[in-house]
Amino acid sequence: MNLLIKNARQVVTVASSGKRLKVGREMRDLGVIENGTVLVQQGRIAWVGRSVDFSMDIDASMEVIDASDRILLPGFVDPHTHLVFAGSREGEFALRTEGASYRQIAEKGGGILATVAKVRETSKKHLKKLALRHLTEMMKLGTTTVEVKSGYGLDFDNELKMLEAINELVKEELINVVPTFLGAHAVPTEYRDRKSDYIRLIVERLIPYVGTKKLAEFCDVFCEAGYFGMEECEQILEEGKKFGMRPKVHADEFNPSSGAELAARVGAVSADHLEYVNERGIELMGHKGVVATLLPGVSFFLGHSYAPARKLIDAGVPVALATDFNPGSCMCYSMPLMMTMACTQMGMTPEEVITASTLNAAAAVSRSHELGSIEVGKRGDLILLNIGNYRFLPYHFGANHVVKTIIQGTMLEF
Ligand code: NIG
Ligand code: FE
Repeated sequence: MNLLIKNARQVVTVASSGKRLKVGREMRDLGVIENGTVLVQQGRIAWVGRSVDFSMDIDASMEVIDASDRILLPGFVDPHTHLVFAGSREGEFALRTEGASYRQIAEKGGGILATVAKVRETSKKHLKKLALRHLTEMMKLGTTTVEVKSGYGLDFDNELKMLEAINELVKEELINVVPTFLGAHAVPTEYRDRKSDYIRLIVERLIPYVGTKKLAEFCDVFCEAGYFGMEECEQILEEGKKFGMRPKVHADEFNPSSGAELAARVGAVSADHLEYVNERGIELMGHKGVVATLLPGVSFFLGHSYAPARKLIDAGVPVALATDFNPGSCMCYSMPLMMTMACTQMGMTPEEVITASTLNAAAAVSRSHELGSIEVGKRGDLILLNIGNYRFLPYHFGANHVVKTIIQGTMLEF
């Protein structure tokens, strides 16, 4: 079935004329078409332009939607999540309201390792079922592509269990799922006093297996004091590259960790978090075109400082937004909410946050050649919102304005 969406008040194309992403002032150019029409054929965008210029005959193969009073955007890309997990950590949340820090909680056996214990005792089938619930809620909020990391298994069998669950979702679900291997998320309890043995497990067994079986496109690391140091991360990421996985880095989240410099040096596709990135890191990321994936939901949820989005954009670093959805540092999967936080807490404009959640977010998962903007040839991943203009989206926060989520030309029913 082909889909014709006509007379949208605005079609926010985020068109980039073939460019992989937008930097600096380009991030404010959304390529808005007032009163626009979009045709999707065989899952791909076949026509986009002003409604008055659409002259094709409407035939029986076309499902027609009248979008007057609505606007059309590219589906959101959420390029950083940990959405496969079991259990929940509201006890930690409550402790934080009484003054405990993320770090203190982790040192007492909470944090990532608490979720690892739950994931290890949960079957792949059940993990998938839990993940699918999250994916469904995300789609309702307009997300059509989502990156998902392993990293709550932290041993051979459980990391594979997570990655297999993620890859089954890739095959079975319409939403575009992008798998990332994050063996270096934390040092598991049984390796507490022999971290180098755990790194050997990652480098000598997990990476070759995951790479050869093509279970992950990216290899990520948590480069942070108390987790993995810069040199350890570099070794892991270089090994991942040999097995076809592009690097990503959890960088400078709680402290300056040189994670941004590391990301530039290893040619990472993105460096994520960056709350404590330094000038040198910003400069190097700009030179190398490393995407800065910012996660304002984490700063909001943990009560920490926000990443210097303005500095990054002004220095020519491509900025993307993501939720980081996970049970510890951001129990939220709403991209629109991240956009509002990015506007009010990080000084980004409504135009910049939309680019950061579509085209640049697609670039953060190496997908911007085929999605992230409404341009002929790209995937028909679109969202219809019942608002009159795009600025209303970050402005009226906490409400869901998405009335239709369309993936590859298929309208989803929930
Ligand atoms: O991105 N920083 C490391 N990992 C997650 C937290 C995961 C957790 O607390 O379970 C993050 O913030
Ligand atoms: Fe994360």
